[in-house]
Amino acid sequence: MSNRTFTMIKPDAFANGHSGAILDMIVKAGFRLVALKMTSLSSQKAGEFYSVHQARPFYSELVEFMSRGPIIAAILEKENAVADFRKLIGATDPAKADPGTIRKLFAASLGENAIHGSDSDENARTESDFFFSNLERI
Ligand code: CMP
Repeated sequence: MSNRTFTMIKPDAFANGHSGAILDMIVKAGFRLVALKMTSLSSQKAGEFYSVHQARPFYSELVEFMSRGPIIAAILEKENAVADFRKLIGATDPAKADPGTIRKLFAASLGENAIHGSDSDENARTESDFFFSNLERI
């Protein structure tokens, strides 16, 4: 069972001033912050992070959006972290997300959906390593 996942508060949620409320929900849901940083992605770095979606029709829109402004990246720890965090954020499309989830509360659309959560233990490790060195983890 996984005990770590990776998340990003995306440029839409950051620009709308929702970062504090989202971090509060994450901590209150029982996730421990292992690493945390505010940064921004160049279009090259955003493209690399989402390279698995390179062939999808929404790829260029996704890269443009993710490099539009600041983001907050974090590694989170909790028993069953990947699955529990995906429950907390809700479905990728906020219109389909359950009430009370982060995307239902803070996201506007499928493309601009406020927050990312890793979809597997392996991706949680890869995505965490993309942003954080060992020295940046507590
Ligand atoms: P995320 O969970 O970060 O992983 C990939 C992202 O691609 C996803 O959230 C959405 O922001 C975006 N995405 C997925 N499907 C679509 C789509 N059909 N149109 C636009 N963006 C999408």
